[in-house]
Amino acid sequence: MHVAFVAPFLMDATLRFVEGAARLPGVRLSLVSQDPLERAPAALRGRLAGHWQVADAFQPRQLVHSAEALGARLGRVERLIGSLEQLQEPLALAREALGLPGLPSAAARNFRDKAVMKDVLRAAGVPCARHALASSADEARRFAAACGFPLVVKPPAGAGAAGTHRLDDGAALERYLASSPPRPGAPVLCEEFLRGEEHSFDAVFVDGRRAFWSVSRYLPSALTVVENPWIQWCVLLPRELDRYEPIRDVGTRALEALGLTTGIAHLEWFRRPDGAVAVSEVAARPPGAQFTSLLSYAHDRDFYEAWPRLVIENRFEPVTRAWAVGAAYVRGQGTGRVRRIHGLEEAQREFGGLVVESRLPTAGSRQGAGYEGAGHVILRHRDTAVVEAALARLIRVVRVELG
Ligand SMILES: Nc1ncnc2c1ncn2[C@@H]1O[C@H](COP(=O)(O)OP(=O)(O)O)[C@@H](O)[C@H]1O
Ligand SMILES: [Mg+2]
Repeated sequence: MHVAFVAPFLMDATLRFVEGAARLPGVRLSLVSQDPLERAPAALRGRLAGHWQVADAFQPRQLVHSAEALGARLGRVERLIGSLEQLQEPLALAREALGLPGLPSAAARNFRDKAVMKDVLRAAGVPCARHALASSADEARRFAAACGFPLVVKPPAGAGAAGTHRLDDGAALERYLASSPPRPGAPVLCEEFLRGEEHSFDAVFVDGRRAFWSVSRYLPSALTVVENPWIQWCVLLPRELDRYEPIRDVGTRALEALGLTTGIAHLEWFRRPDGAVAVSEVAARPPGAQFTSLLSYAHDRDFYEAWPRLVIENRFEPVTRAWAVGAAYVRGQGTGRVRRIHGLEEAQREFGGLVVESRLPTAGSRQGAGYEGAGHVILRHRDTAVVEAALARLIRVVRVELG
């Protein structure tokens, strides 16, 4: 089968899915990208059937044209896929124009626009934060008066926590409105601030039915990590999922309401202090920030290959959760490039045996701006408590020095 994979930028995270797709038996894979093909690793280039460079991969018409051009040379393109969040709606529109199977564009829009998403979830009875889409400062003030502080403001289609802020009082709201005034055509999404513990719910659907689910805990929440540059973030995938049945059911209902057909979804949710769950946001794509690796380690299954197989062949083979897995994201304080990393020997001595992957920065490298910091270490063990304790220790012991 001839499959076109759209990857506008040939970033490492995306390339792992492209490589997974290229390995599938029976698949002839073409790549559509804005980046020139030379950016792809030579080994991957050797496995590709074709390549088409586009000026703007987010334009459905250019995607349609790419698929037709590749089809004319190499045989009809039968699947058009891509893992990047911002691509899901243009991909769906292009598939519809080409008559190819995949997530419908109406569903893709539900996942992409957070205000639409919240309306759909609320109508389906899925608990989530109260919200309002404000097109003026007064609308934002009215929401604040009705909802109270703290509240959260964010762009309706953001990603990576960019542009998401917690506002604690009226003065903070006025400062925000003065610096980023909402207006018609450029509204701001205002939400009730959810208290409690943030988690993800990652699920595989085949033909609208759940075929797999997983939960991870964010230690602490992503926004807290962005707001406090000294925090080194951790994510924990507990091996046992029995206490997560409430989000299994609510999360599944959320994905059904949004219209997920076949695919992986990454849903973020909070367990409120009273134990109730509240859905925060959902994306119809495989998760980023190493989560796909974490799922792979927890189930001894390569999800970089399982995802393309799922969307190409419309099937997912059952997996067993055999491990607890955790990631610690190391992060230096202050500014500048990485000078050195402290505590590695101690960490190695204490729990080196748990490490299954480590991408630590070298001296001179730059630290990313987000919650993912300068690098990460992934640990796993059969016992969840062992992984949780090792993560806590690791972020105390390992320190990145910038300067
Ligand atoms: N209503 C909310 N209450 C509390 N925290 C929130 C809320 N909305 C977002 N956050 C925090 O901000 C982070 C980023 O917001 P999110 O909506 O997930 O945007 P993105 O698409 O950029 O990931 C979340 O992971 C969470 O930690
Ligand atoms: Mg998010």
